[in-house]
Amino acid sequence: MYQVPQITDSVYYVGVNDRMKERFENVWSIPSGVAYNAYLIVDEKTTLIDTVDVCYSDIFFHKLDLILQGRPVDYLIINHMEPDHGGSIGLLRQRYPDMQIVGNKKTFDMLSGFHGITTGLHEVKSGDALRIGSHEFSFLMAPMVHWPEVMFTYEQSNRLLFSADAFGSFGALSGHIFDSHLTDRQSYLDEMVRYYACVIGKYGPFVKKALANIDKQGLDIEYVCPSHGVVWTREGFAD
Ligand SMILES: [Fe+2]
Ligand SMILES: [Fe+2]
Repeated sequence: MYQVPQITDSVYYVGVNDRMKERFENVWSIPSGVAYNAYLIVDEKTTLIDTVDVCYSDIFFHKLDLILQGRPVDYLIINHMEPDHGGSIGLLRQRYPDMQIVGNKKTFDMLSGFHGITTGLHEVKSGDALRIGSHEFSFLMAPMVHWPEVMFTYEQSNRLLFSADAFGSFGALSGHIFDSHLTDRQSYLDEMVRYYACVIGKYGPFVKKALANIDKQGLDIEYVCPSHGVVWTREGFAD
């Protein structure tokens, strides 16, 4: 049976691959596809970080079902509302009507516009925390990396940084989720640079500001979990 990849014991990778699209955002060619990443943390409360492009929601929901075995999703943290990540929010709310949606004020303005959702919201600001059992999340606003509502989420016990499109890459994932397992590392890094240059690069000053904020907070990071491409590990960075 299919095993959903895990980052740690209680943190699952529930993203999907898109190998059909010819051009990302109808502009940039993606010959090796792209991954839309989402992550599920299972604790006293179950918490999802981001969703996927609605075209792939069936696969996404199948993965959630395999892990949750009938439990609901209690929280959805939205780091970024662009449809490649927020596209399945409406369907997710239909499946889990009591699910609380965690985001900032700008997230919720967009959530209302995109999905007509205005209830069951849990608003956060930089420095706020959310405990779901043994895991605790904190939030850092990262406006204009590369949309105004973007935020990063940090999980303390496993030292995970969920970084939205920052540190993302073009390229579907081929049977692995960690950078340390890449077999074609150089071509993958080239795709990461191309993603940054095409999608994020012109927002460079905002990326630098977000990195400075991470530094200022002294976050100890073991894994960087972006919304596209591999999960970056200390082991992989050391290479
Ligand atoms: Fe984006
Ligand atoms: Fe994205």
